[in-house]
Amino acid sequence: MEFEKVKPSEKLAPCIWGVSSGKGGVGKTFISTSLALTVSKLGHKVVLVDFDLTGANSHTALGIDPSHMNLRHYFESTKSLEDIVLNTPHPNLQYIQGFWDAWGPVSIETSHINQFWKDLKNIDADYVIIDLGTGFYEHHMNIFKRCDEKFLITTPEPTSIEKTYRFVESLICSTLKENSTPDAFGKLMYVLRDHRQRILPEPFSFKKYLLGHEGFIFDHFEQLSKKPVQLIVNSVRSPQQMELGHSMKSVACKYYDVSLEFAAAIDFDNAVWQSLRNREPVLVAQPFTPLSGQFLSLCKHMIDPEELRAVV
Ligand SMILES: Nc1ncnc2c1ncn2[C@@H]1O[C@H](COP(=O)(O)OP(=O)(O)OP(=O)(O)O)[C@@H](O)[C@H]1O
Ligand SMILES: [Mg+2]
Repeated sequence: MEFEKVKPSEKLAPCIWGVSSGKGGVGKTFISTSLALTVSKLGHKVVLVDFDLTGANSHTALGIDPSHMNLRHYFESTKSLEDIVLNTPHPNLQYIQGFWDAWGPVSIETSHINQFWKDLKNIDADYVIIDLGTGFYEHHMNIFKRCDEKFLITTPEPTSIEKTYRFVESLICSTLKENSTPDAFGKLMYVLRDHRQRILPEPFSFKKYLLGHEGFIFDHFEQLSKKPVQLIVNSVRSPQQMELGHSMKSVACKYYDVSLEFAAAIDFDNAVWQSLRNREPVLVAQPFTPLSGQFLSLCKHMIDPEELRAVV
């Protein structure tokens, strides 16, 4: 299947998509690689960035060898970001390898992240897709919050669902911290902790709290609703699990007052790990499966559909 871009991109800066999760091992690397492959197949120039500080492995998902050149060269100021962009065997797709030597100290300051973001915005690409790794670390959250599209990955496992809600709470708190006075934020943390410790039956409504308190300097919920987090439920094995995204969306709205879009459900498919073993991404090895179709629909939905014309 080949796709042709009808209208050349007029964007000056690339659109940046971030992929993260509350729990590890839920498929971030598989999903970010598959998004990158699909968007590049649609005719866009894509750079995949491995920013998983706990251990970079996007190269494995892409079926290529790790490179000596990686983000350490950039963060240690010896190379520019453009210098460490590597080619892949896949047309339109380049990548930036993450810290390969995760055992070495990684000391990144907020100022480095700010510069990293500026450099990402100047990179020669239509789309930059970042595998952000797991969890609520400050640097991950800092980048995730800024992304033009934010993908949050869960599986249907209860442990993953629970950690996804923890991630949503951390995202809210981290955004509020940036947009409040230290006093107001400190008080919110105190009230929230107290609420949790006493396990009160009522959910803690951030919205209600903000309405009754001063010191928060923007309309938090309006901002979050403008660009909702895109939830992807990965490794689904039944039609019931396909529906999970809808219930998680309702829970996020009811308990956290945030909009979570249910972007896609992705099948569990043994071909994913089998093709990893063969060092070829499953979407390349098997481009015409329902799994490929799910990524294609998702990416077309995320990109302006009028920009593309499919030539099948
Ligand atoms: N839809 C799927 N069907 C079958 N296997 C999958 C699927 N998604 C991911 N996997 C497999 O699950 C394992 C974990 O996936 P992956 O490495 O992408 O998760 P991750 O969230 O990036 O993990 P980590 O938190 O360690 O970075 C891999 O072996 C991958 O092949
Ligand atoms: Mg990963």
